[in-house]
Amino acid sequence: MDKNYFSNDNGLIPKYDVLKFNFSERFLENRLQNRFDYDYKENLAKNMLKELIGYGEISSLIEDDDLEEIMVIGVDKPVFVYHRKYGMMETDLIFDGEEKITNIIDSIARETNRRIDQQSPILDARLENGSRVNATIPPLSANGPTITIRKFKKDPLTIVDLIRFNTLNTEMASFLWLCVDGLGVKPANIIVSGGTSSGKTTLLNALSIFINPKERIITIEDTLELQIPHNHIIRMEARTVNIENQGEITIEDLVKNSLRQRPDRIIVGEVRGKEAITLFTALNTGHSGFGTLHANNSRETITRLTNAPMNVPKIMISSIDFIIMEKRIYRSDGISYRRITEIVEVVGMEEGTVQLSKLFEWDSEKDEFRNLTIMSKTLEEIANLKGIHISKLNEEWEKRRDVLNYLVKNNISSQKDISKFLENYYLNPNYVLNEIGVSLN
Ligand SMILES: Nc1ncnc2c1ncn2[C@@H]1O[C@H](COP(=O)(O)OP(=O)(O)OP(=O)(O)O)[C@@H](O)[C@H]1O
Ligand SMILES: [Mg+2]
Repeated sequence: MDKNYFSNDNGLIPKYDVLKFNFSERFLENRLQNRFDYDYKENLAKNMLKELIGYGEISSLIEDDDLEEIMVIGVDKPVFVYHRKYGMMETDLIFDGEEKITNIIDSIARETNRRIDQQSPILDARLENGSRVNATIPPLSANGPTITIRKFKKDPLTIVDLIRFNTLNTEMASFLWLCVDGLGVKPANIIVSGGTSSGKTTLLNALSIFINPKERIITIEDTLELQIPHNHIIRMEARTVNIENQGEITIEDLVKNSLRQRPDRIIVGEVRGKEAITLFTALNTGHSGFGTLHANNSRETITRLTNAPMNVPKIMISSIDFIIMEKRIYRSDGISYRRITEIVEVVGMEEGTVQLSKLFEWDSEKDEFRNLTIMSKTLEEIANLKGIHISKLNEEWEKRRDVLNYLVKNNISSQKDISKFLENYYLNPNYVLNEIGVSLN
């Protein structure tokens, strides 16, 4: 990265130098002072065009793949960005009037065929490049219009990336692989749960790579975020009302509809409303499913599912096999990292309470993961259905751990490469194990 790109001199929040990429008045200032450099000149025409037809002055921020989030917080305030490496940064871009911000919001609304006005002052949309946008206008937002853009990562983080970041270890990942696939007899139902921006969708996406390529997958989302490499997949996106206040298609509509599409696996990006009951009915009738949910611990996950507005009957909860809790942890310098804090198995119901068993746990002091028990109801069920001894499954778990260790060690981390590897493994495990030098006894 360019050294001028950021500076850390001004206290707590490092600075992101928009000028480096953007055409603005300061560009001319630099030019007058004879500090013109070739990059600027090259960018001049491009940036002018972008400001005219794109997203105004934030266009170059939108194009910077190192940014996770772009935050316009109103008039006369700096635009903030969240940098993948440097965390929260203040930019030198300040909007001095509402109009420029409103223009950007209007062009996003037009592009996505949504409306934003006094009657519906909140805009939720997805840009052409996949990024997610939320915008609000006064009087809802007191300091002027706001824009929050969650950038879409072109190459999603994969399970190998997450292992390398220590979000989880290979033992957990290979366990989840075994359960997601369920050896073709019992594909696990999983809820990934955690706080805002804890990495739930990313983890769900990363785990989806383990889905057996034979399955027919249907994904259902508010705004398309999931990037699952499988061929046989139908991606559905909900729709809010259009300019004429019509045409809404909810997540619930889509989940209901998916049941007529003969899915093997239904993936609901975020479970939060009435669709939960439909989803759980599907899980209780032999479909398998994934979803994320917003909650702070596994108990709260169940409480949220069983209360309004989701109202899933408790008896249906045991169709979930695992709740994976993920957390975003902030270091004192403002940089954050993500950890799977626990993997909990739903083992059944007793006296009206859902029984949970914790299989893995994160030790925050040592920054290590612990496997708390070798007993897993899901593994037992797979062994029973397959008619094999549980020790055979433990062997399979170990083999898959070897495969993942190999991928991590050899930096095979792109989604494409991993899925090719896994596909081969599903076709001929011994061949793959041989190739990577695992001795088969
Ligand atoms: N394990 C991880 N390590 C590092 N960065 C991550 C990790 N998981 C996710 N991220 C990054 O964090 C951001 C938020 O991730 P993600 O959208 O998966 O979170 P979320 O919990 O689904 O958020 P939301 O609450 O908005 O649904 C993304 O930019 C993503 O690239
Ligand atoms: Mg999410």
